[in-house]
Amino acid sequence: MSNEPTPQSHPIPAHGGTLINRLATDVQEHDIRQRAPQMKKLVLTNRESSDLDLIAVGAFSPLQGFMGQQDYQRVVSDMRLADGTLWSLPVTLSATKEETKAIGNQEEIALYNETNTLLGVMTVEDTFSYDKQQEANLAYGTTEEAHPGVAALYQQKELLVGGSVTVVQRQDIGSMLPHRCDPIETRQAFLDRGWRTVVGFQTRNPVHRAHEYIQKAAMELVDGLLLHPLVGETKSDDIPAEVRMKCYEVLLENYYPQDRTHLSILPAAMRYAGPREAVFHALIRKNYGCTHFIVGRDHAGVGNYYGTYAAQDLLRGIPSADLEITPLFFDNSFFCKSCGNMASAKTCPHSEDSRISLSGTQVRDMLQRGELPPPEFSRPEVAAVLVANS
Ligand code: ADX
Repeated sequence: MSNEPTPQSHPIPAHGGTLINRLATDVQEHDIRQRAPQMKKLVLTNRESSDLDLIAVGAFSPLQGFMGQQDYQRVVSDMRLADGTLWSLPVTLSATKEETKAIGNQEEIALYNETNTLLGVMTVEDTFSYDKQQEANLAYGTTEEAHPGVAALYQQKELLVGGSVTVVQRQDIGSMLPHRCDPIETRQAFLDRGWRTVVGFQTRNPVHRAHEYIQKAAMELVDGLLLHPLVGETKSDDIPAEVRMKCYEVLLENYYPQDRTHLSILPAAMRYAGPREAVFHALIRKNYGCTHFIVGRDHAGVGNYYGTYAAQDLLRGIPSADLEITPLFFDNSFFCKSCGNMASAKTCPHSEDSRISLSGTQVRDMLQRGELPPPEFSRPEVAAVLVANS
């Protein structure tokens, strides 16, 4: 591992200008492993561990650690870091009063995961209390515990601890490991392929034909596609990452030009924060080297918490000089039997009766009955994977 400055060979600057690298060098790692047993310690949840890992590899550039109070407060109220840089969601580490009581300012503490593996260290710059209801309201637009992102927030401990981190141990992502490409690697892969423009696609669901339609519409405009499924913590009724990966693989194999696509994962937790998360997702994909980012219907939404195009509206209001990645907006897409094509209300004049749109719940119910979703909704190869794994 190395924390040498990252060469800025890629034409797309990271958010904030520099791709952050907080992975320990071999010398630092040796030193940290020797000293850690004498340090005070915090145990991170899975979600915090994945955030730590993403900070370390620069996916959350310009963050160098978990947020201190000034960044946190301004992000929650204003969608900006303390220095004015656009940032839409808190990235925080919580702790109890008891755990933080004796920690001094600038003290180095050891960070462990839930199975007691040392992940790294943090230089504590700030310990502060926070208002969970305020964060829920402003970042998620609701204080209801029925919202999975808000429920996760309410489960956090009562204080937040901020400071820069150095990581000695990457997160254990099990079977997803072969699919992991850090920002520095995706950037290099795009350079090697000669892609000057790359569109990023966020997804947490098995791929269906509306996804394919909007990806391919975007691919007509750019050199390549980063198909970038989020595989960190999701809610329990979302389809498991392993099954989704198989779906993406059979789809790419059968329906996409290999030299125009790059499939790798985003090992982040899903927040379900709708519009704010759409901004977060776009900034992360900029750090992975994308120039464009797809935002369709109800991006990162859950239940009926957000308007169908609320994420697009929020992104439209952000100055392009702050975002520095071009969002590509798509209307709700479907298969139209009269057109004989995928379409949206922008391109199809026919009535609802002609349109095949299935909700996630309808598809889940079909799969549980062992039925294949229709070919207008799902490619047969993808449907076969879903049925075999349901
Ligand atoms: S998300 O939580 O990751 O946004 P999902 O995997 O369903 O959920 O969506 C991935 C991307 O495809 C998002 O940008 C979403 O807005 C878009 N999308 C999903 N379904 C449709 C659809 N039928 N029409 C247009 N865009 C869609």
